[in-house]
This record gives sequence, structure tokens and C-alpha cells, in this order.
Amino acid sequence: MALADCRIIELPKINDPRGNLTFIEGSHHIPFDIKRVYYLYDVPCGAERGAHGHRRLQQLIVAMSGSFDVILDDGFETRTFHMNRSYYGLYISPMIWRNIANVSSGAVLMVLASEIYDESDYFRDYQQFLKAARNSR
Ligand code: TYD
Repeated sequence: MALADCRIIELPKINDPRGNLTFIEGSHHIPFDIKRVYYLYDVPCGAERGAHGHRRLQQLIVAMSGSFDVILDDGFETRTFHMNRSYYGLYISPMIWRNIANVSSGAVLMVLASEIYDESDYFRDYQQFLKAARNSR
């Protein structure tokens, strides 16, 4: 899998003077069935999250509130996405190392995931990730 597979997906948005509404249907608006949802919040100023890769997991990250940067790395190149709208999701394919930085005060990061939590799916060591990513091409 390559960085080229990772992309911003524009989600449906129902504009309404009473407030906007966005919805996400698994395998319809995003390329996978949703097996898990988690969210990060109360992130202290300057804290960085992520710093890992996944063997099989696909994810969609949405800035429900506030803003943050997601830095993606496929072992060959990196790309930074600035997230600050709740109707944009960042799709992350398998075999991508990700760092999350510059999280604004009060930001809420929602993550939709294609699999339930499985620690054996993680690369926690960057060198190990790099080796696997480069061998997989
Ligand atoms: P981690 O994936 O490292 O967080 P982040 O990507 O935000 O930096 O997970 C942090 C801790 O939470 C780790 O001990 C595993 C646990 N965890 C779960 O138990 N279930 C989950 O669905 C997730 C995402 C994490």
C-alpha cells in the first residue's frame, strides 16, 4: 500500500440553518465496513499521538472539533494533512506510519476503524515498520 491510496474523502453534508449534519455509511462513503470507533480528546498542548503503523487496519480520521495535522509515511515518502472540518475524513490505508501533531486546544479526533483493536496489528517500532514497508514493494 502506498501514500497515494491515502486521501481526503468529502463526506455528505446536509446544510441547514439549524445546524449542519454529516453522516458516514461503512463501505458506501468510505472503503471499509466500520468495526470500531474511537476518539481522542483532552489532548494536552504540545502532545503528539500516533507514532505507529498498522499491518491490515484501515482508518478514517475526522476532526470533529478543532484542528490537527496528520503526517503519513509509507516508508518512501511523507505527506501532511491539516484536518479542521467535520465533513472531511482522512482515509489511511494499511502499512502507513502516522503521527498526529499540532492538536488545537479542545480538538476532538474521531477515528473509524476497519477492525476491532488488535495489538498484534501494530508496528510500534519505526525501523521495523520501515523494513516491512520497503520489503512489501
Ligand atoms: P494508541 O493506538 O497507541 O493511541 P494513539 O494512536 O492515539 O497514539 O493506543 C493508546 C492505548 O489505548 C494503548 O494502550 C492501546 C489502547 N487502545 C485500546 O485499548 N483500544 C483501542 O481501540 C485503541 C485505539 C487503543
